[in-house]
Amino acid sequence: MGLVSAKEMLIKARKEGYAVGQFNINNLEWIKAVLTASEEMKSPVILGVSEGAGKYMTGYKTVVAMVEGMLDFYNITVPVALHLDHGSFEGAKACIEAGFSSVMFDGSHYSIEENVQKTKEIVKYAAERGISVEAEVGSIGGEEDGVVGGGEVADPMECKMIADLGVTMLAAGIGNIHGKYPANWQGLRLDVLKKIQEVAGIMPLVLHGGTGIPDQMVKDAIALGVSKINVNTECQLVFAAATREYILADKDLVGKGFDPRKLLAPGTQAVINTVKEKIELFGSANKA
Ligand code: 13P
Repeated sequence: MGLVSAKEMLIKARKEGYAVGQFNINNLEWIKAVLTASEEMKSPVILGVSEGAGKYMTGYKTVVAMVEGMLDFYNITVPVALHLDHGSFEGAKACIEAGFSSVMFDGSHYSIEENVQKTKEIVKYAAERGISVEAEVGSIGGEEDGVVGGGEVADPMECKMIADLGVTMLAAGIGNIHGKYPANWQGLRLDVLKKIQEVAGIMPLVLHGGTGIPDQMVKDAIALGVSKINVNTECQLVFAAATREYILADKDLVGKGFDPRKLLAPGTQAVINTVKEKIELFGSANKA
């Protein structure tokens, strides 16, 4: 199956009360890991690409070609969306032109009026091409690829304004941050999430900063309408830990242990394991 928009998989998830994982990709190994884990779990999946990761992988066209080639090579049968994460206005348009099936336009750092106006334009451009759109209200805290957010808690009425523009899914800041949570983190503002759900109706909601949120809190958020959960840092941490272990055990010094296909294998397997655990937690296994 080729790339699909995230719309159908998220409407189904919202209706049936589970969440689809967005796993951010960084290179060939990451794409392999996320696709094979999702296929094994029979789960729909969203591959997230930040603008920085897009540049790292030598451009959006390369990303599209790599992902499409792998869908074919592995004979992937589960629905897969290729999604721009925290896109700028120009970035969202460039990804649509390059063949992405889904984009996020993050206008949370603009005034609500400008966010509405720019989101509306992207929605129109995307809708004409069958592409799903994620919008954001209330920036997510922490730093991701140079995008720094202060961690605002979204205003439910502003969420309604953006939700009504015909977006596919809505990300709202509810005390979540990218990267590791500090020890004194107060947890997700589930009270705010509830209010957002009340005004946004059946709109699939997106939870960013999926790394390090306690399992029960993740399940509570899903029960309140979260249908897409983004995970990035956790995969990076397990990849780095497994690679570190391999090198510290001097495995690169034995035989052809320095071969990148061997050197990167434990990290890749660690990403597969983490993606499978998240799919289990989010409830999307066997939902393809
Ligand atoms: P983490 O890096 O905290 O898992 O967040 C990922 C994310 O929200 C991508 O948009």
